[in-house]
Amino acid sequence: MRRRNASGDRDTRESRSDMEVQGGELLLKGALLPGGRRADILIAAGKVIHVGAGTRAEEVVDCSGLLCLPGAVDMHVHMRGGGQAHKEDWRTGSMSALAGGVTTVVDQPNTLPPLTTEDLFSARVREAAAACLCNFGVNAAVTPAADIEGMWKAGALAFGETFAAPSSYGDAVGMGDLRILMGRIAALGAPMTVHAEESLPGVDATLAAHDALRPAHGERKIVEEISRMRPQTLSLHFCHLSSAGSVDAARGSVEATPHHLFLSRERFAPTDARGKVNPPLRSDPERKRLWSRWDRIDVIASDHAPHALAEKAGEFSAAPSGIPGVETMMPLLLAEVYRGTVTLASLLAKTVHAPARILGIEAPGFSKGCRADFALYPKEASSIRGDLLHSKAGWTPYEGMQAAFPVTVIAGGHLALQKGEYAGIRGAWLPGRGYICEGDVHVHADTAHL
Ligand code: DOR
Ligand code: ZN
Repeated sequence: MRRRNASGDRDTRESRSDMEVQGGELLLKGALLPGGRRADILIAAGKVIHVGAGTRAEEVVDCSGLLCLPGAVDMHVHMRGGGQAHKEDWRTGSMSALAGGVTTVVDQPNTLPPLTTEDLFSARVREAAAACLCNFGVNAAVTPAADIEGMWKAGALAFGETFAAPSSYGDAVGMGDLRILMGRIAALGAPMTVHAEESLPGVDATLAAHDALRPAHGERKIVEEISRMRPQTLSLHFCHLSSAGSVDAARGSVEATPHHLFLSRERFAPTDARGKVNPPLRSDPERKRLWSRWDRIDVIASDHAPHALAEKAGEFSAAPSGIPGVETMMPLLLAEVYRGTVTLASLLAKTVHAPARILGIEAPGFSKGCRADFALYPKEASSIRGDLLHSKAGWTPYEGMQAAFPVTVIAGGHLALQKGEYAGIRGAWLPGRGYICEGDVHVHADTAHL
């Protein structure tokens, strides 16, 4: 029998040494690991307790024919919920994440209202803890009035995305304020993430106009400006850079998204707002140049920004920007690995290890004592079908593209998703390094990394 506490969470208090003698809770039998080695992975209390052969467990998963990868850390996800629950909520967003092999999501603070106070931040953590089926972190908003220091103590994982240009549900912070805020965040030793763009006046009646009004060269200019004024001690991360020039200019860690790598604006009809996102989708040659910077890109994150089809269907200039993508990120990229475009090691560096390092959380892995978050993938890709995805958005711009979706996902050491069935167990909250527990946030915090 598996042991769970009253709220349905794993009981992490049970004796680990007892587990080691008796066997584990879960055994991944014959798992093919990223380096090509085949091994049995024994798991108990959310951790890997043995990698090798000859062990037994309460639950055994036959992994033959499947590739076992560490669960991805998607450090840029808009989980919505609250007043935006018609677009997505923590349950559907986390179902979508798990179905795409993402076992940790990092929520962005441009909620309604944005997360600018300790109380709003803690309420957000409670909302997530009640419904999220994967591990999660919550970022804090960066505005001149935000209680930066208070939210760091309340457990913010990072600060941002910080809007250097306005975007859906995000007001721009001016450069003067940004400089001051960078200093405050640097003094805390906290990571800061920035949405760097230039937004010019005008009406964006088409995807081409949207691209022209938020141009790639403008993004580069703002990236350069922020790179120049950053305090050297600040852990600075550039979100979703959409052009090779911006990647080259960045002095900080660099993130790119699947939509800027896989989609160009030419793929959509000129006024199809499903392709509207900030920063905009670029031309196909620009998209290809972004691929050429693969080695310089530190992190791939989805910028999962679900909006309902009805919201996208109205007048183009009024439609919200954003593309859903947490579920398709790893599957699309793994298909590229199978095609030989990129290496598996580079994919894992960008989707597991770099985001964990930047955020100061523990990455899952295949050694004794590692976090047991894994996804088991078939060795062949298939076509993406929007009707099989789990986001409330209900649409995908990747329809028909090749992707490899995991068949089984392990989060926090338990079978979170197997053959389309969700176990329904809530994920762990990953607070940031500044977290001081004052007893006001009653959630199951995973403090393994503190
Ligand atoms: O396209 C975008 N959508 N870019 C952002 O920066 C925000 C996001 C959203 O929250 O919808
Ligand atoms: Zn953004």
